[in-house]
Amino acid sequence: MTWLEAKVLENRHWTDALFSLRVEGPRLAFEAGQFVRIALDIGGERIARPFSFVNPPADPRLEFYGIVLPEGPLSPRLARLAPGDSLFVASNPAGFLVLSELPDRDSLWLMSTGTGIAPFLSILRTEAPWKRFRNVVLVHAVRHAAELVYRETIGQMKDLRYVPFVSRESAPGALAGRIPAAVTDGRLEAAAGLRLAPETSQVMLCGNPDMLKDTTAALVARGLRKHRRRNPGHISVESFW
Ligand SMILES: Cc1cc2nc3c(=O)[nH]c(=O)nc-3n(C[C@H](O)[C@H](O)[C@H](O)COP(=O)(O)OP(=O)(O)OC[C@H]3O[C@@H](n4cnc5c(N)ncnc54)[C@H](O)[C@@H]3O)c2cc1C
Ligand SMILES: NC(=O)c1ccc[n+]([C@@H]2O[C@H](COP(=O)([O-])OP(=O)(O)OC[C@H]3O[C@@H](n4cnc5c(N)ncnc54)[C@H](OP(=O)(O)O)[C@@H]3O)[C@@H](O)[C@H]2O)c1
Repeated sequence: MTWLEAKVLENRHWTDALFSLRVEGPRLAFEAGQFVRIALDIGGERIARPFSFVNPPADPRLEFYGIVLPEGPLSPRLARLAPGDSLFVASNPAGFLVLSELPDRDSLWLMSTGTGIAPFLSILRTEAPWKRFRNVVLVHAVRHAAELVYRETIGQMKDLRYVPFVSRESAPGALAGRIPAAVTDGRLEAAAGLRLAPETSQVMLCGNPDMLKDTTAALVARGLRKHRRRNPGHISVESFW
């Protein structure tokens, strides 16, 4: 692995805490859904964290979507980067939250909390999900309506079934509460207009580890099981912490 230097082109702030960095950097080979470590030199030390690509592999400009964790060493500093500033990108993208790992089924369900939407945006900006699955659902669960980001990008995906959740205020057009409860009581299927069943559904989960655990349990209760290379199933997960 080597560290490659990149330059910030734009740092878009969606809210006080949420930002999207677009950077001009090295051309990296990766599959949509993967992540790479990005780093800054802080107090004489290189501090690195994994970030999912938001851009599709064909786009030479890298894009990352982040949240400020006020006590964290890296994210507050990434949020303050301005055009022209430097950061470092590792040369070795990685990760298994990718469509090439999945069996063919009718419906692809991409379920995320918070910044966990990032790898799904990259996947949805490629041709693969639209060619391989008859139905594609994107679920994005956030605390506040202002955190339902990338609405313009999502709105341009005409065949996408988009189901937003807002948990800490009432928001027109979004489901209330959390994903696992809505799997269990059928509200998620009703909102997507699609059945969630082992015969037809492949599910990818990304974001908060508690959401991954609780949603997996709700899906297992519906007959779906974890996907493994040697024992293909229906549920793939990537935890952000
Ligand atoms: C495979 C992978 C991919 C990731 N991709 C992204 C990404 O695309 N965007 C992104 O913002 N983060 C992503 N993360 C998390 C990221 O690597 C950092 O942990 C995060 O940016 C905070 O860094 P920090 O140094 O400020 O604080 P840290 O010391 O790394 O984290 C402090 C605490 O903040 C919480 N936390 C960490 N990340 C998040 C988050 N994303 N949302 C809410 N709470 C969090 C956890 O409780 C953690 O212990 C990813 C992590 C992994 C493992
Ligand atoms: N200004 C700032 O710097 C700032 C501002 C905001 C947040 N933050 C930081 O960001 C972090 C939170 O980030 P976030 O809002 O993306 O993360 P989050 O806590 O993961 O919340 C995102 C969504 O996931 C849901 N969720 C949580 N646990 C779940 C579970 N077990 N099952 C299903 N859904 C679950 C939440 O619902 P619930 O609402 O029901 O929990 C919410 O709808 C905090 O640590 C905070 O420090 C910083």
